[in-house]
Amino acid sequence: MPQDRYAVFGHPINHSKSPRIHALFAQQTGQAIHYTAQDVPAENFREELKRFAAEGGRGLSCTVPLKELAWGIADGKSVRADRAKAVNTLVLGKDGRLFGDNTDGVGLLRDLTVNLGLTVTGLNILLLGAGGASRGILEPLLAMKPRRMIIANRTVAKAEQLAMEFADLGSIKALPFKALASESFDLILNATAASLSGDLPPVPEGILAAGGTCYDLAYGSQPTAFVRWGGGMGAELSVDGIGMLVEQAAEAFFIWRGMRPQTRPVIELLNAERSQAE
Ligand code: ATR
Repeated sequence: MPQDRYAVFGHPINHSKSPRIHALFAQQTGQAIHYTAQDVPAENFREELKRFAAEGGRGLSCTVPLKELAWGIADGKSVRADRAKAVNTLVLGKDGRLFGDNTDGVGLLRDLTVNLGLTVTGLNILLLGAGGASRGILEPLLAMKPRRMIIANRTVAKAEQLAMEFADLGSIKALPFKALASESFDLILNATAASLSGDLPPVPEGILAAGGTCYDLAYGSQPTAFVRWGGGMGAELSVDGIGMLVEQAAEAFFIWRGMRPQTRPVIELLNAERSQAE
């Protein structure tokens, strides 16, 4: 049977779980797709995209550092991608047009609310980081009406810029890391790139409320430094972003194939494989 081609582009890409996730979705839904991972640094993005389209590629996932670039390149975009100014899912139309969407926010929200059973409404939330990952999740998070959203970032001006851009959607404010010590949060989300290099953002101790949750948007074969920090702070739940990864992929799969795969068995399988590898 001929297979439609899909891929994830990004840099670095060698540890990407996306090909495995989409292979599991394809198997589950009986769709004939072939999904690969390709190492594409920002400077090669346009050229590799053109090559992939010429070879008949139907859709692309874009990850670090290509999401903002993909937003700039897409011919048409969803409202949520435009709000995020970042695209993680591209549809390559037969007419050569590129449609860009962003499934990160819905992926995070589904993991938080459906898989982990959290109610975001009324929470005091701290968002660490003001890059593309934060941009992708702010709109759907604010739509859930948290009590307050604070963004902290190493470069404070970037957090202030984000707070300004999203101020129409809810209560949102930027603070430097050192101003966080007197605050208390029910949910702390790590959207910095610190985990990718094994680092911890400079979060003060004692700011997680009793029964609070820590969530790292990044994931790895081992618990990230931030997930371990959350455990040490007495978090009721301290988890990484494997659930978000699977959920955002499921939404991309739906955009490409018009079918919604079941995510829970895939998350369970990936978690079981991780704990076996430890
Ligand atoms: P992404 O698209 O993954 O969000 P990005 O746009 O490069 O990537 O943003 C990375 C984010 O992680 C930024 O908020 C960055 O802080 P700065 O804006 O001050 O650069 C943050 N970051 C990266 N490494 C970090 C570290 N070691 N500690 C704290 N924050 C870090």
